[in-house]
Amino acid sequence: MKDYSKYFKGPSLKEAKNRGKSEIHHINDAYHIPVDMIGIGKGQTYFIQTYGCQANERDSEILAGILESLGYRATDEIKEAQVVLLNTCAIRENAEEKVFGKIGYLKKLKRVNPNIIFGICGCMAQEEVVIKKILEKHPQVDLIFGTHNIHRLPELLKQAMLEKEMVLEVWSKEGDVIESLPSHRAHPYKAWVNIMYGCNKFCTYCIVPYTRGKERSRHKEDILEEVQELIENGYQEITLLGQNVNSYGKDFGDEYDFSNLLEDVAKTGIPRIRFTTSHPWDFSEKMIEVIAKYDNILPFIHLPVQSGSSEVLKRMGRRYTREQYLELFDKIKKKIPDCTITTDIIVGFPDETKEQFEETMTLYEYCEYDLAYTFIYSPRAGTPAAKMEDNIDIHEKEERLYRLNDLVSEKANKQNQKYLNQIVEVLVEGTSKKNDEMLSGYSKHNKLVNFKGNKNDIGKIVKVKITEVKTWALKGEQVE
Ligand code: 5AD
Ligand code: SF4
Repeated sequence: MKDYSKYFKGPSLKEAKNRGKSEIHHINDAYHIPVDMIGIGKGQTYFIQTYGCQANERDSEILAGILESLGYRATDEIKEAQVVLLNTCAIRENAEEKVFGKIGYLKKLKRVNPNIIFGICGCMAQEEVVIKKILEKHPQVDLIFGTHNIHRLPELLKQAMLEKEMVLEVWSKEGDVIESLPSHRAHPYKAWVNIMYGCNKFCTYCIVPYTRGKERSRHKEDILEEVQELIENGYQEITLLGQNVNSYGKDFGDEYDFSNLLEDVAKTGIPRIRFTTSHPWDFSEKMIEVIAKYDNILPFIHLPVQSGSSEVLKRMGRRYTREQYLELFDKIKKKIPDCTITTDIIVGFPDETKEQFEETMTLYEYCEYDLAYTFIYSPRAGTPAAKMEDNIDIHEKEERLYRLNDLVSEKANKQNQKYLNQIVEVLVEGTSKKNDEMLSGYSKHNKLVNFKGNKNDIGKIVKVKITEVKTWALKGEQVE
């Protein structure tokens, strides 16, 4: 293997874990294009493949904006692109396997067309084990950069074009908050708006606090300005994004918190506001009140529970018990009766007994969630849980997952039944993927609705009467 050490600016989980008091800078002028990169992409195309969560989707919009500021245009054909970026996810092993599969494919592509610049970024780039594997097995990769280095893309691309060796720049210590980056939004009517970056919760199974760094909030003025601009550009819906939006503002050390921000965003008058994700531990009463008060804050809360057993929750480092979660759940349902609540659940966490899994089932039976994202526990190198013995047999884990998923479908179907013959408001996103004659979009409660309607209303919020209910979608006809 080659000696990469001379230019190895790779990641360190140990460094990433550090939550020092170092000041966070909010920087407006970090982005610049080196003179010799101006217009470098003219007549050329780029392809970005995004894996994982909304934070990555938003980052990909920024990567796209940066590449377009260099003159590149997007292509849907990976084979035609001169720049290919994989924006990766590290949350579970199978997410990483998918990326390694794609790297294998791209290696072949590069043999046919050696001029492609092939880059890897996102959460996997922050992991030492991944970087080692790429250096050893996939030296054809031209460029690796981390989640804190996105604004450096023009400079890094330049190095990758000039140098014969792989360019690697991953900062492990969380960066600053970088404002004023170019961006090409994926949707014309709904938009992601970052309100904060990173996570300080350190749930024992989770790699995110290491790959995304410490919690850093954007200034409210910058967020509100972005929302205002979206309104002026005709956007109907925004989703406020953070690993745990409830932590918004804690790093400022003043009174202004997520409930204040939510209220200020609601007052801008944008028709629809969503937010994700909320940790049950610091979901405040004030937040519930604000959500209940404003019609444009949609009655939809993603509230990951992870397990129904207090014992397991303790080992997961979740900071709440089953009872405390249920108390919060009931409070939300009482104050916002039509609120849809969805969740995330992990099965097969180390030492999870059959009885403890049954507690997850009974909690689910009680909460009757509209939807849940369910996962088999996957050890992540460097996290505290990875040191626990992964001692539940894979067949047992799978069986727990199947049983849970059956319950998830049953409750999703049950929850959807209440919309039959009701009129719901839908933001029309376009024609349905499966049938060009049908339109589709999401209701306030985040239900996918396929319906017969007026194509001129794409981009608007319309009323739809629900005529058929399925487990994962609703069908209907536009009435207004
Ligand atoms: N194994 C399985 N699922 C995980 N999640 C996070 N880390 C892991 C892991 N190591 C799940 C949690 C989280 C969601 C985004 O992914 O349920 O809420
Ligand atoms: Fe991971 Fe927990 Fe932070 Fe969510 S709150 S990103 S599960 S550490």
